[in-house]
Order: sequence, then structure tokens, then C-alpha cells
Amino acid sequence: MNLDDGQIIEKYGNIMDKYFRTCSLMYPCPLSISFVRSLKWLPMIDKIPFDMCIFVPPSIAKTSNEKVTLIHSDMPEFEFTICHNYMNRYLHPKLNVFAIDVNIHASAIVGCDGVHPVYAPDGTFIHTKHMSYVDVKSKVCIGAGATIQRGVLLPTILDEGCYIDTLCNIGHQAIIGKYSIIASGAIIGGSCIIGDHCFVGLNATIKNGVHICDNVIIGQGSSVIKDIVDPGIYAGFPVRFIKPYDMYFLSR
Ligand SMILES: CC(C)(COP(=O)(O)OP(=O)(O)OC[C@H]1O[C@@H](n2cnc3c(N)ncnc32)[C@H](O)[C@@H]1OP(=O)(O)O)[C@@H](O)C(=O)NCCC(=O)NCCS
Repeated sequence: MNLDDGQIIEKYGNIMDKYFRTCSLMYPCPLSISFVRSLKWLPMIDKIPFDMCIFVPPSIAKTSNEKVTLIHSDMPEFEFTICHNYMNRYLHPKLNVFAIDVNIHASAIVGCDGVHPVYAPDGTFIHTKHMSYVDVKSKVCIGAGATIQRGVLLPTILDEGCYIDTLCNIGHQAIIGKYSIIASGAIIGGSCIIGDHCFVGLNATIKNGVHICDNVIIGQGSSVIKDIVDPGIYAGFPVRFIKPYDMYFLSR
């Protein structure tokens, strides 16, 4: 039998009384609730040094860690998200952080939500309340009309000196590396990591979760759907390696 939201909240009421916040297991916090989707997280769960409660799939039968309470669920992310939204229902997200020497156009939006649907068994989905923030480091520029989404549980980071051009979208929990340029119209999916000294060309798209190493140039209109682990110039749909990295390519 599938439980509705109210029944899930009632079922886990005692848990939500004991643990007072939610977190990502990438950065576990004491007395918080988190979730994992797969067995690969078990070694990490075994090492958590403080009290936590974690929604896990049935494949994680148990942990040797006595500090961690496991809640078994066929839908760990769904049940966690119901609890997360409920626990944070009256709380504001964390405030964005700006270095003092940033240059942000008045029409840019810093700290909007991104879409993070979590599907219910009946095919409807719930939106996960975004509780984290955008961390804008020193010398960052954000152009007109750009949108920078805040994170759900972890911050979105624009690292030192990076340049987000007009009309770009930076997805939630993405990290843009130092002195990287995201040219007009480019779309960076959620949880992407773009390395240092990269360039993402006009209207390019980077699939959510993709990691791009330092010193990579992505051609205009290109699409990156897999991690890029070697420096270079890449272009196409999906991208292919074109030639070695050249930091002066824009001025040639
Ligand atoms: C990727 C890029 C850097 C390559 O420039 P380049 O070194 O002069 O490369 P070339 O024009 O000699 O092209 C080399 C090959 O890549 C292909 N190619 C170049 N750019 C491409 C792109 N965006 N998408 C698909 N293929 C591309 C060319 O067709 C050519 O293929 P071929 O060898 O089969 O003929 C450039 O095309 C580009 O996209 N620059 C970014 C522009 C931009 O966003 N400017 C913003 C200014 S703020």
C-alpha cells in the first residue's frame, strides 16, 4: 500500500523529532536525516562519526555503525523528500554569499530554484525545497539576464574570477571553476562541475552531473553528455575532441 504525504509524515514523526535537519551524505551533519539511492554509499555510512538517520534502499541491509539509524524504504529519496519538505516548511533557505568585489548585472537572478522532481509511485512528482545557497567568490562577473540556481542541500559555487555571460543558466549545486567563462546562452545542468580556466561557448549545453576537468574549451552550440577528463578543445553534438587546449584561442 502506498502512503500519502500525511501518512509518511505521521510514520516518521518520531524520527523528525529526534533529528532536526536534513543534509547531503556528501557532507554529513550531526543529528540530521539523509538518504542514499544505492549500495555504493555503504562504506561511507559505516564511517559516519555522529548520530544520523539515513533512508536507504533494501539492498543496504545493515550497517556496522551503531551511530547510524537506517530506515529501509523502496523509495528512499521520495520518503526523504517528504520529510525534508516538511521539516523545512517554515524555514528560509540559507542566504547567498557574495565576495565584496563581484560585478553582477541588476537583471541577473541569483538564488532561484531549479527543477528537482522526485517521483511518487503514481507518476506525479514533488518538488524538493531548495535550502542551500549560491556562493559567489571574489572577482566573479554575472551578466544581464543570467540565472544562477541555489542548491537543494549543497551550495552552487561560482569560483574566483569566473564569468557568467548574459542569459546563461547555472543549475543547482553546479560548481564553475576559477577563471572559467560561460558564454551567452550556455546552459549548465545541475550538479555539473566545470574545472578551472575552462570556456563554454555560446549556447552550449552541459548535461546535469557532468564533470569537466581544468583547461577545456567547449565549442559554441555543442553538447556535453559525458565527463571530459583531458584538457583540450571539444565541439559537436555530442562533443568530440578537436584539438589541444589553447588558452589564447579567443584572441586568434
Ligand atoms: C570550438 C572552436 C573553439 C574551434 O575553433 P577553431 O580552433 O578555429 O577550429 P576550426 O574552426 O578550425 O574547426 C575545427 C573542426 O571543428 C569543427 N567545429 C568547430 N567548431 C565547432 C562547433 N562549435 N560545433 C561543431 N563542430 C565544430 C569544424 O567544423 C572543424 O571540423 P573539420 O575538421 O571536420 O572540418 C570554435 O569553433 C568555437 O566554437 N569557439 C567558441 C565561440 C564562442 O562561443 N564565442 C563566444 C565569444 S564570448
